[in-house]
Amino acid sequence: MRILITAGPTREPIDPVRYLSNRSSGKMGYALAEAALAHGHEVLLVSGPVSLSPPAAAETVFVETAAEMHEAVAREIGSCQCALFCAAVADYRVEEVAEAKIKKSGDSLTLTLIQNPDILGSARDRFGFTGILVGFAAETDALETHAREKMERKGCDLLVANDVSRSDIGFDREENEVVLFYRNGKKESLPRDSKRRIADRIIEVIEGINRESDA
Ligand code: PMT
Repeated sequence: MRILITAGPTREPIDPVRYLSNRSSGKMGYALAEAALAHGHEVLLVSGPVSLSPPAAAETVFVETAAEMHEAVAREIGSCQCALFCAAVADYRVEEVAEAKIKKSGDSLTLTLIQNPDILGSARDRFGFTGILVGFAAETDALETHAREKMERKGCDLLVANDVSRSDIGFDREENEVVLFYRNGKKESLPRDSKRRIADRIIEVIEGINRESDA
């Protein structure tokens, strides 16, 4: 399969020197890219700004903002049979990016934020993607309820849920612990392990979904 993987954070500029972002390091998304390649798949990695080197065998497109990631995915997803949305995309961006550095004045500063496009949420309806769609969910509470709701709303075949309230897994850690939610209502817990081994299992599950859809 040709697999599209989004990874890392996005950066939403405030002015020429400042931005809004989050704690994603790209490690989970890059581990997925390595696992998919090791399983013999082609990988198109759409990466936000991270300090990792992408696997040499992956075709990599670097982006900064959610709008750029949206554009790259819109352009590339049609050539892929599977798409994994592991990136931590900023839900909001600053409405008016200042052209010059904002000077300190007064005790407070108000920024107006507006919604970014939901890239995963656009896959089925706007991009017309009919391949295997895998979403991630980063949750701090009610993991299963939020994960199942996201899976349904975004039309995913599989949803990978992380508890990001824990400091030993998730954002910028070498290890993760996730729950996989399947379309048929089944769930599978993957105990704490290296991101690479978690990624290997996710790729195996996707291969199973692919075999079922071919049968
Ligand atoms: O990068 P690491 O440091 O290794 O950390 C890994 C991780 C914790 C970031 C990763 O495992 C993870 O959970 N990624 C999803 C983070 C996230 O943004 O979750 P969410 O619940 O806010 O979004 C739900 C889904 O919609 C995700 O698949 C996300 O990529 C997608 N999304 C969200 C907003 C948006 N505007 N566009 C999107 O495509």
